Amino acid sequence: MSNDNASGGIGDPASEPLAPEPSALSFHDWHFTVDQEGIGWAIFDREGQSANALGTRPLEELGKIVEWTEEGARRRTMTGLVILSGKDKGFIVGADINEFDGFTTEAEVIDRLRMVLALFDRIERLSIPVVAGIHGVCVGGGLELALACHYRIATRDEGTRVGFPEVKLGIFPGWHGTARSIRQAGPIAAMQAMLTGSMISASRARAMGLIDELVASRGALRWAARKAVLKKRKAKPAGLTKSLLTRWPARALLAKKMRDETKKKAREAHYPAPFRLIDLFELHGGDLEALKAAETRYFAPLLISDQSRNLRRVFKLSELLKSQAPKGLDWKPVRVHVIGAGTMGADIAGWCVASGMEVTLQDLSPEVIEKGIKAQSKLFSRKFKTKAQKAAAKARLIADPTGQGAVHADVIIEAIVEKLEIKQKLFTELEGKIKPGAVLATNTSSLEIEAIAAPLRDPGRLIGIHFFNPVALMPLVEVVRGAQSRDEEVKKGAAFITAIGKFPLVAKSVPGFLVNRILAPYMMQAMARLEKGEEKEKIDEAARTFGMPMGPIELADTVGLDVCAHVGRILGISPEGSLLQRLVDTNKLGKKTGEGFYVWKDGKPEKGEKNYTSTDLDRLGRELVEPIIAESERALADGVVESADLVDAGVIFGTGFAPFRGGPLHFKASEATANAALAAAE
Ligand code: NAI
Repeated sequence: MSNDNASGGIGDPASEPLAPEPSALSFHDWHFTVDQEGIGWAIFDREGQSANALGTRPLEELGKIVEWTEEGARRRTMTGLVILSGKDKGFIVGADINEFDGFTTEAEVIDRLRMVLALFDRIERLSIPVVAGIHGVCVGGGLELALACHYRIATRDEGTRVGFPEVKLGIFPGWHGTARSIRQAGPIAAMQAMLTGSMISASRARAMGLIDELVASRGALRWAARKAVLKKRKAKPAGLTKSLLTRWPARALLAKKMRDETKKKAREAHYPAPFRLIDLFELHGGDLEALKAAETRYFAPLLISDQSRNLRRVFKLSELLKSQAPKGLDWKPVRVHVIGAGTMGADIAGWCVASGMEVTLQDLSPEVIEKGIKAQSKLFSRKFKTKAQKAAAKARLIADPTGQGAVHADVIIEAIVEKLEIKQKLFTELEGKIKPGAVLATNTSSLEIEAIAAPLRDPGRLIGIHFFNPVALMPLVEVVRGAQSRDEEVKKGAAFITAIGKFPLVAKSVPGFLVNRILAPYMMQAMARLEKGEEKEKIDEAARTFGMPMGPIELADTVGLDVCAHVGRILGISPEGSLLQRLVDTNKLGKKTGEGFYVWKDGKPEKGEKNYTSTDLDRLGRELVEPIIAESERALADGVVESADLVDAGVIFGTGFAPFRGGPLHFKASEATANAALAAAE
């Protein structure tokens, strides 16, 4: 035992029957005690952090606990080990991704992995039962640790979720989670979990075989874990039928199917991780020990790849956006009043309800309100599983033709027609009615916040809360600070957006705010190229080759050409007499009218079969995104948002700009570095 601090050294087992004295083990991130029954309780509670991430120190400390337990098991002073979390929030959020950036070579990654893999293997080999007691989030490396235990118990509440989100960071499970999850859940369910990165409820995980037992509450975990230790419970691996699927040729067929499915969602050049995982499974999935041995080889290059580095950056940018909502604000929004039940208002209301808010929805027309409310059933069906939950959501969305709800609301969002005088009149009437401290916001996309606020007695109260269409799919919401807006109102606006599960981006009130200001020149330039004779299919394919989720021409048709022309006019970049204008004039507005730049059939644009060379597409793709980069630089210089990282975050989450490239400004800087390195090498 290498623990120097251990008092009362452990001598001959016969002469020393008592449990080792655990109080001698002093840790930063774990509490470890051995009880009267010889059960070691290892409680992970990372010092100074709100969530448990498995960084170097917690892993080293866990190593000491395991060492102690090995000794306790040998001497028969310990009967089992239980791993729990001391955090209210959950079990373990995974490895500490902040440490990943320190790795620059595969050798460094492999070296580090070796230590963790050995530790997890030792846990698995312990001769006494090892039980993981899980509440809340248990993902990535946390789930891999749980899978190295002999038995897994979880609370069955909604907050408990397990999963492998690694693919979202450009990697896959690298702590033998590939082999252990396949062993427990079989190849189909395990690979699906790893390839999609989706979160799995406790009951589903139990059905899959990733969890062995469910309990009602966190309080019941200890008791159930104690029982599992005393009864020496051990998880059963997946049955024979499932394991047969890892044999040849079933495995090859499965791999092909997985590859085909994955290709529909992602390009290998942009997101290699799921493809490497399938290769790994196809070549080594028949023998879980061989799979374990090969996992590191496939994993290491991914971790140091640019894609993974940039995807980790995107994750950190999402955290940065969330941090724009100030902590410790003494204000908690519960009631929302939305005025205008059209395209935006109805969906904003629905989203707020789905996030737990109570919402009143106002419009001039009761029929429009009714239609808007009805349209939310799809969202509620997606968000809620039980009938009771759906009914409760419906009950929280209240038709309010006379606008009574404004009086009690914590947040009032206006989403009526884009006319200055009408908006001014509405806000002037509202000002006298609403309660002190309520947030007053407009969803305008083109009017000046200052102009809307001008007739108010307290113009400092008005902010912009600019949602994107479709509301349910777009993660970003701009919180717009007018020149007159009070800081406190902006902060509350950001807190509200976080409370409804979106990312707030605080932006200055300039035409187009941040996102439309940057997106519009890119789309207009693509349309100009089209007018000059470039094929629309080629433009769209080149943008997708760069990594955009949709090409700019198809995007324009999807958004609506009237909307594009309007945004172009606000920004002064929509030339009169352009093809765009001609299409709008002839009511060819894109997807919604069945024709725009493309002809649309069954919700899809009709595209001709074309073949372009990849060099051509790469070159054109890079040229197409240049206006995004240039405008991002100008927006930063104009102080539209506070930092370059916030520009990148806004553009990624507001436009879908190739996440694996880390944002337009980051991409430009990386490109410059790569070019300089190339020039130096020549
Ligand atoms: P819309 O035309 O679909 O809906 C507007 C609704 O407001 C209509 O149902 C109308 O009956 C109602 N309305 C008009 N005056 C009213 C009043 N005085 N009191 C109560 N209700 C009134 O418009 P849409 O597209 O939903 O846009 C609403 C606002 O959101 C606009 O300011 C627009 O600039 C902004 N916006 C629109 C986006 C889009 O993609 N459509 C995206 C982001 C912002």
